[in-house]
Amino acid sequence: MERKLLFPKIDGIMHGGDYNPEQWLDRPDILKEDIRMMKKAGMNCATLGVFSWSTFEPREGEFHFEWLHQIMDELYANGIYTILATPSGARPAWLDEKYPEAMRVDAYGVRAHHGVRHNHCMSALVYREKVSIILNRLVDEFGSHPGLLMWHISNEFGGECYCPHCVKRFQNYLAEKFDHDIEKLNQAWWTKFWSHEYNDFSQIEPPYQNGEYSIMGLNLEWKRFTTWNMTDYMKSETAILRERTPDIPITTNFMKLFPGLDYRKMSEELDVISWDSYPRFHNDEEPFADTMTENAFDHAVMRSMKKEQPFMMMESAPGLVNWHPYNKMQRPGVHKLASFQAVALGSDTVQYFQWRKGRGSFEQYHGAVVDHLGTDDTRVFREVEELGQELKKIKEVAGTVVKAKVAVIFDWDSMWAIEDMRGLAQDTKNYPEECMNAYRDLSSFGLDVDVISSEDSYEDYAVIAAPMLYMLHPNVSERLKAFVEKGGQLIATYLTGYVDENTLNYLGGFPGDGLRDLFGVISEEIDTLYPKDRNKVRFTDGSEGEVRDYAEVLRVADGTEISGTYENDYYKGMAAVTGRKSGKGTAVYVAARLAQESMRHLYAQALKRAEIPVLCLPDGVECHTREADDVCYRFLLNDTTEKKTISGVKGLNLLTGEPVDGTLQLEGYGVACLKTSGKNR
Ligand code: GLA
Ligand code: ZN
Repeated sequence: MERKLLFPKIDGIMHGGDYNPEQWLDRPDILKEDIRMMKKAGMNCATLGVFSWSTFEPREGEFHFEWLHQIMDELYANGIYTILATPSGARPAWLDEKYPEAMRVDAYGVRAHHGVRHNHCMSALVYREKVSIILNRLVDEFGSHPGLLMWHISNEFGGECYCPHCVKRFQNYLAEKFDHDIEKLNQAWWTKFWSHEYNDFSQIEPPYQNGEYSIMGLNLEWKRFTTWNMTDYMKSETAILRERTPDIPITTNFMKLFPGLDYRKMSEELDVISWDSYPRFHNDEEPFADTMTENAFDHAVMRSMKKEQPFMMMESAPGLVNWHPYNKMQRPGVHKLASFQAVALGSDTVQYFQWRKGRGSFEQYHGAVVDHLGTDDTRVFREVEELGQELKKIKEVAGTVVKAKVAVIFDWDSMWAIEDMRGLAQDTKNYPEECMNAYRDLSSFGLDVDVISSEDSYEDYAVIAAPMLYMLHPNVSERLKAFVEKGGQLIATYLTGYVDENTLNYLGGFPGDGLRDLFGVISEEIDTLYPKDRNKVRFTDGSEGEVRDYAEVLRVADGTEISGTYENDYYKGMAAVTGRKSGKGTAVYVAARLAQESMRHLYAQALKRAEIPVLCLPDGVECHTREADDVCYRFLLNDTTEKKTISGVKGLNLLTGEPVDGTLQLEGYGVACLKTSGKNR
């Protein structure tokens, strides 16, 4: 496995951020300072043009690029490369005034007024046309600039539009999908219910009023359509760039498990995955280490979409953000810790929003490398500058990847369908949280864990956790069976395999589509517990685990081993956790929402069966590993303020230059990167 550098021109890890010089064109003194200070901070890249449309084209057809030429030239002359954004994240006033159909219509049928951002009708042909004009002009001007590294299309895609044009496209999309046969759709959506049958695709309306609608298939298909339409829009930009600058990679910046778009589907159209990381550090609801773990999960989600290469942390906040409910300052040391976490999990970049705080408007109080104070001796600037130095010490990590043997399955479709189903308890379904918990529990063994779609390959994994895999896509159950047959360890839970890809329930027992044979169980009932209700599971080894929220009542087939039974209620004594061998592997079914300790125990057993060595980490310490050829880099991160001692690790600490043989001490928020190569790995 060779290193795959995202940007051969960058020497090591990219260090950069959003830079908005168009806000300062009347202050050449400041623009000059920017270059000096970027160099001081060890920045080698800047993201330009994200919201520059009105500066590029202040009136329709009148273009100004001179300013950006000067900036890009100057940056390049100083060793700072450019990621150039297409400016479609926000529209200039002249465009909305003349072409109001570019403005989005909400779920109540009301068209937006001019303003804000990220609120276009993605179907509007005139919008696509105006974007294509400015894109072509950008390529004319900058497509062969030696400083241009990458295209960043638009910004944080999101949202949906209910305008008549989008509705028509939705109907056409459905007609295509259901082979122009309305009866197929009626079947798939079970529309005899409440007399919802359609005679024709033209009768289908989107789920207006925010999905307070009665057809689950329709709600789901609307979300899929929104992803499809957004991807179609995205392609209208990428097609121009791919044709005209085939050597320049393309990305767009994602946001965690954004509920509005299936990123996994969109990722297929991108060359590189990038995302914007804004954890709510130091909040008063959870330990800091938990916030870090959630952020690690989000990194793993992004990495796993294109795991054969590094991803990018396109944005993160130096100091603080301005849009959380409480915008607390990051404590000293956290900047380095969070930046190293991104790299440890496979990012080849540490980038910020933003380089310099603007003087006015919505984000004037958002953190930046350079504050309104304007100097290079603020705490935040110094932390960024120090990080710039540290990143140089680990530059050889660039181009290496994380090779996880363990994965958690997370599907956008299951997230949408579970959220939308009327059943269980609306407040405690928590599907994404349960996937995150599986990630947390598995990674607590010092392992890297991918977060994949059920439609991805299972080839590289020895252990797969599939919490609440409610919806089964075609072939998933066969592929899971094959995975176990070949020796895979599968751990599934309550709410597995209830519906097909149209949200129709399987008949003959859940988990459906043949999975009941793999697990050797049928879930006959699912009990929803009130928030204060508890049950308990007693395991055959004598240990106990608490149950909350959900508990299924199982029928167990011959040959299935019961390893835990319920302690209370009318299902007392009945199976709660089972395992069944199939070929060389085992399929474990966890019928209830079990306490973390018990889940960890079940995962530990699966890892043992898979012969995956684990590391015993102190609480609050993360371990991630990147590798290439004959070398590997193990990152250890202390997500607490206390000193921690980690045993069982070795290698050359690239940050201190000291060898470590067995035991490593980390100060609060401390990080280490241990290199091992050859037969020492
Ligand atoms: C997002 C956007 C940026 C900026 C930051 C603020 O990630 O992409 O333009 O608004 O949030 O945190
Ligand atoms: Zn529209």
